[in-house]
Amino acid sequence: MSSLVIEGGRPLSGTVSISGAKNAALPACIASLLTEEAVILHSVPQLRDISTILYTLGALGKRVVRNDSDVVIASGGCLSEEANAYSVRQMRASFLVLGPLVARLGRAIVPLPGGCAIGARPVDLHLSGLRQLGARLTERGGVVEVVADRLEGAHIDLPFPSVGATEQLVMAACLAKGETRITNAAVEPEVLDLLDLLTAMGAELCVEDRIIRIQGKTELTGAEHTLIPDRMEAGTMLLAGAITGGRVNVSPARPDHLQAFLHTLRKTGATISSGDGSIEIDAEPRPSPIAVETAPYPGFPTDLHPPFAACLTLGTGVSQLTEAVFERRFAYVHSLCRMGAKIVQDGRTLSIQGVDGLRGCEVEAPDIRGGAALVLAGLAASGTTSVTGLLHIDRGHGHLVEKLRALGASVERREASS
Ligand code: EPZ
Repeated sequence: MSSLVIEGGRPLSGTVSISGAKNAALPACIASLLTEEAVILHSVPQLRDISTILYTLGALGKRVVRNDSDVVIASGGCLSEEANAYSVRQMRASFLVLGPLVARLGRAIVPLPGGCAIGARPVDLHLSGLRQLGARLTERGGVVEVVADRLEGAHIDLPFPSVGATEQLVMAACLAKGETRITNAAVEPEVLDLLDLLTAMGAELCVEDRIIRIQGKTELTGAEHTLIPDRMEAGTMLLAGAITGGRVNVSPARPDHLQAFLHTLRKTGATISSGDGSIEIDAEPRPSPIAVETAPYPGFPTDLHPPFAACLTLGTGVSQLTEAVFERRFAYVHSLCRMGAKIVQDGRTLSIQGVDGLRGCEVEAPDIRGGAALVLAGLAASGTTSVTGLLHIDRGHGHLVEKLRALGASVERREASS
């Protein structure tokens, strides 16, 4: 089994370069389905999830050329209506091909993604939104077929500001007839980045508060777009500085995308400075306890809850952390406890009693961000931590070993055969 072997206990220091945002790159790649012309993306991170989506698009008939962090997605001839079942099951974001395909071709067949480690994650909001745009849906054997001669603009009020449903429905509405208004829409920076790309592709849309208005077009054009920096990678690296009592600078980074997170980090006693596309943390040896609850943007991001929890295990008192977005994002907790953390879970709230130190042991990453939490704990722990389950870590963290080593960490990747 491949693993990351970490010798912990060294304060990290230095500058680390941040890749383009995974969760902006995935819908941006999928938006290429809305046009015959080429979509050129820059700052695409080198991650397993990106390879999966590019494979999905290739299987649908797109021609994909990738050169480091530049990706060109062009027409490859005939576009297929049916998505590859394997890749949708590998990664839920592939389900976003549904809206663009039905908007372009009038028909789409896509497997329903199942639940996953962090919660049930239904797609009811995606499906009911497409129905409101006039699509007819049938489901058989876990596969959904969606048909519409031409989608019609509608008012869609989302009961929850779902990131994926917002992206799905905005993309579909770009080629619908007339105006679509999505209220209570998600406004995460990654959603707004998609809106920027769609605008560059000729879409007519605007966003104000949580309302997105889209004036449908008969076709979109190609475009060239540079993705925003990954705020989750930036946050995770700042927390690597925090948990080791170090001083870490992340660049490029957008402090405006991380306001709630940085505000919470300051409350732990860390000194945060930002400017000129970078953020720096100068951490206290141990964080002060805090109470925090995750929420849709601009609230505290759910994706940074697990690495933040790892940091709070070494706090000087009892912290409370409530997960309000995903009901099961706690699979990493028992591994932190094996490393010496004192955490009690009550429903969706963790009470984290700070301890003097963690000790290394063998742990398994349960999901992308839970994996990051365990790596961070390993960086601070005494002795050796071995993290397996690298499939999850590789989905969301590119060049992790190199980046941590550049900050002075002792981390080594051991492949299964060595
Ligand atoms: C996106 O997932 C991100 N993924 C997630 O990042 C992120 O954690 C999440 O948004 C929240 O910020 C990508 O962008 C690819 P949601 P998504 O729809 O779109 C419920 C990571 O580690 N819901 O906003 O799936 C859902 O169950 C990942 O990088 C419904 O009930 O998130 C959840 O409780 C993991 N019905 C809540 O809404 C629906 O139809 C938020 O989900 C859709 C969602």
